[in-house]
Amino acid sequence: MRNYHARKMDKEAIYPYQAWKITEEEFLLENNHHNEAIFALGNGYMGLRGTVEEDYPGSEKTTTPGFYINGVYASEEIIYGEEAPNLPKNGQTMINLADWSEMNLYINEEKLNLLKGKILDYKRELDLKQGLLKRHILWEDRQGRKIEINITRLISLSREHIGAIRYQFKAVNFSGKISLNSAINGDVSNHHHLRNKKALEVIESEVDTKSGYLLHNVKSTKFKIAYVVEHLIVGQTKEKCESKKRSSENRIDWIFEISASQGEKYTIDKIVGVNHSQEKGENPLSDARASAARASISGFENLIEEQAEFMTGYWQDVDVKIEGDDALQQAFRFNAFHILQAAGKDGQTSVAAKGISGEYYEGHYFWDTESYVLPFYAFQRPEVARNLLLFRYNTLAQARENAKRMKLDGVLFPWRTINGEEASGFFMGSTVQYHINADIAYALNLYYQVSRDQEFMENYGLEILIETARMWLSLGSYIPMKDNKFCFNTVCGPDEYKPGVDNNAYTNYMAKFNLDITVKMAEIIKKEAPEKYNRLSERIDLTDNEIANMKEIKEDIYLPYNEKLEITPQDDSFLYKNPIEVDNIPEEELPLVKNWHPLIIWRYQVIKQADVMLLMLQLGNQFSQDLKIRNYDYYEPKTTHDSSLSPAIYSIIASEIGYKNQAYNYFMQTARLDLDDYNENAYQGVHTACMGGTWLSLVQGFGGMRMFNGNLYFHPHLPDGWDSYQFRLRFKGSQIEVTIKENIVKYMLISGDKVEFKHYDQVIVLEESHLAEEVQI
Ligand code: BGC
Repeated sequence: MRNYHARKMDKEAIYPYQAWKITEEEFLLENNHHNEAIFALGNGYMGLRGTVEEDYPGSEKTTTPGFYINGVYASEEIIYGEEAPNLPKNGQTMINLADWSEMNLYINEEKLNLLKGKILDYKRELDLKQGLLKRHILWEDRQGRKIEINITRLISLSREHIGAIRYQFKAVNFSGKISLNSAINGDVSNHHHLRNKKALEVIESEVDTKSGYLLHNVKSTKFKIAYVVEHLIVGQTKEKCESKKRSSENRIDWIFEISASQGEKYTIDKIVGVNHSQEKGENPLSDARASAARASISGFENLIEEQAEFMTGYWQDVDVKIEGDDALQQAFRFNAFHILQAAGKDGQTSVAAKGISGEYYEGHYFWDTESYVLPFYAFQRPEVARNLLLFRYNTLAQARENAKRMKLDGVLFPWRTINGEEASGFFMGSTVQYHINADIAYALNLYYQVSRDQEFMENYGLEILIETARMWLSLGSYIPMKDNKFCFNTVCGPDEYKPGVDNNAYTNYMAKFNLDITVKMAEIIKKEAPEKYNRLSERIDLTDNEIANMKEIKEDIYLPYNEKLEITPQDDSFLYKNPIEVDNIPEEELPLVKNWHPLIIWRYQVIKQADVMLLMLQLGNQFSQDLKIRNYDYYEPKTTHDSSLSPAIYSIIASEIGYKNQAYNYFMQTARLDLDDYNENAYQGVHTACMGGTWLSLVQGFGGMRMFNGNLYFHPHLPDGWDSYQFRLRFKGSQIEVTIKENIVKYMLISGDKVEFKHYDQVIVLEESHLAEEVQI
């Protein structure tokens, strides 16, 4: 590992190592910003940052509250420094919506403010087992009155339109008036990206003493969003509570005044239903009302129980139990929790680069979803993977337009998007990454091989394959000076530090793969479901000739290899650039993306993120072990890992080629990136792809799991210092459990039919459920 990264990792842990919790032990305003992302809650549909309930006069450096709905965006014209033809016209930005988490407490007239008075006890913990955020405060105001407060917050995982907060308090050493001011604040705006800060307008609002709603309109895109709030005054609190309301144009306040007796506990629950107009349903207001009413009838305790039940099921499928490494055990679970929170599950939305935990990257979906997050789901919760692919299917029309914009056939999926249209204003970092088409095809194939979902492939998948394959045929050309090979010029691989290059190896191999599986699937479906095949062919003008053409061209694709160095050149020009090692770049100049002009970066052999290494992983069966070693040795010293997508892939290849220390270090860098804030930017939102990378490096790296041509392989090892680790995978409808302990590996069938795979060179067949097969490493 490079020195720069080793030094970053020397940072002290911010939270204590706990198996199932992330705990903030001290309230410090300056930590709020980081905590807002760490403690963000979400359920794939909506996300609430971990901003505390009471307000503080913080600057944007200490607090950026946010509530978002996945896929709900505002649009603005992209302003270009210099115009060029056919650039995307409008951007899309996930919009910051009404803040319904605001709750301020007053003892008489003194407002709870942890920066004043005394904090006698404080703890906030994210409970990963139960899917809850809990806060405990014991505070003494300036008059010596002590109050104990316990707040529990959730975004329901089983009712996607519901969020809730339970607010409990107890006057410890006094009796008197305590007021709780609960609000929906609709006067909000995006902190970043949008120029027009007033992107939302209130259409309607209504308030009663305990309930009310706000209906917002996003001016540029006409999304209507309804927030319906109901308060439940629980148990004996009712007798002591008087409720008042107040409303202004874009804000509703409820004030609950309680004549508190010393030592009594008072409880108020806030239940919120949220819907928007571009989802299935009647209308957002009546839908949100109905969800809020149902949740209120169920009650908060029920919501907690449902949440715990949901989480139990989730952990049964996805938990990786690590014994002997508390830091990584915690990190894995934290990451898996956020992956759950980030993923859209309705086929209309996907996984944004920061999930729903922050505004950075504008809530855009990238290739991150298919290449880093989808494998996690395909092997553990295939139904979610299916819906993520369905999102691509549902945006084929926009991807067709995007291809036309670039004078290409078929589809070109956007590099950054929410609604399916290209939203990037910087083509050298976006459109030039044509590889996204192949990444989607690769993920589709992975899902298909794992799930054997024939119906999906026939009804949706094949069309995606054919349309993505068509793009490659129109992008590439036979180049006489390259022995008349079929080449892809002026592209960019995953390494964004080398845009506009010819024959990026990753791109060429992946394009070939895209064509290869397209031809195979077309032949299978033509034979097995001829009617469907014919209908599709008619609809998208597919001919036998076209398939024959794909078959021929895929064999002619230029596959780069450098005889002299005996490595895979990243592209045609990479090896001819100025060589440099990352350790020789002054530390203060990293990350380069922030410190060097792009032209400087482009002239060096310096890499932002795994590129050839990703190829060595994804199509690993096409390369020898020796080549992988030579490639690793050549590219690793040149890689800055300025993208958080990088270390996971290096970790996996390091595992495979036996560089165990490097594998562990790169894994650590991936797994604890947000928790320890290595890049000091977690406040912007969590790094979802890197979180997916955590699972990849555990299961594909240490576990050595690969799947090629529908066959499963394991080459596991136990990292030094670990006692054991265990994970589960779904494969062709069955579920298996793998436990690695010292030099013994146990494979067990948990459910489903017989599963066959290879452990190193040994074929293993699991037939009987819960009977373990033990083998030596
Ligand atoms: C990486 C891309 C990634 C994007 C969003 C960039 O820094 O280079 O590969 O898609 O971040 O996560």
